[in-house]
Amino acid sequence: MCSAEVLVQLRAQWPTPGSDVHGAHVAVQQRGSATYLVAWRGPMPLGSAMVKWDGCVGANASSAYPGCVEIRHLQVRPGERGSGVGAALITAAEQLVRSGGHIQACLGVAADNPDAARLYHRLGYRPTGVRDQIAYTWYDEDGAPHNETQDNELLVKRLAASVDG
Ligand SMILES: CC(C)(COP(=O)(O)OP(=O)(O)OC[C@H]1O[C@@H](n2cnc3c(N)ncnc32)[C@H](O)[C@@H]1OP(=O)(O)O)[C@@H](O)C(=O)NCCC(=O)NCCS
Repeated sequence: MCSAEVLVQLRAQWPTPGSDVHGAHVAVQQRGSATYLVAWRGPMPLGSAMVKWDGCVGANASSAYPGCVEIRHLQVRPGERGSGVGAALITAAEQLVRSGGHIQACLGVAADNPDAARLYHRLGYRPTGVRDQIAYTWYDEDGAPHNETQDNELLVKRLAASVDG
């Protein structure tokens, strides 16, 4: 979980031109509707994910799987991809979901992101056929915003019981 103190280090070590992405995620966490997870190697942040406690962002997903906890905004920094950071973040997110008393986790994957879909399938997420158009803004290296819409399919995984009971 990313604390307010850690946010200072995060902003310094992982700048996000054009938008205070880390600050926005921590603000959502402080409102209680999500938990912001960050993977570190020493002082260096490698990747992050959000555990969204208040249901799926997509209207179709939310209606088909009401109350399902969604893992969102998974990203690993480009130089760190392919070495297990993404899988570790999902595993940590699932532990959090289980410890919150939930038996199911879900995530959305874009139709044009087969690499991420392969990872999710390997980790046990199954297709649902439930699709939503998700609007989002991303920022390029110069901080210029780009508004896009992606066609997301919801994937769902049933979680084993928590070892914490
Ligand atoms: C998708 C992503 C989070 C995976 O994290 P990761 O740390 O690279 O993943 P891991 O090392 O744990 O697992 C490797 C698997 O991730 C997937 N993958 C997706 N993009 C990849 C990339 N650029 N490089 C390497 N693996 C990638 C592949 O399925 C790979 O499995 P493979 O070895 O069989 O090809 C990361 O690549 C990323 O940040 N991509 C850009 C943002 C994104 O697409 N986020 C997901 C939105 S749904």
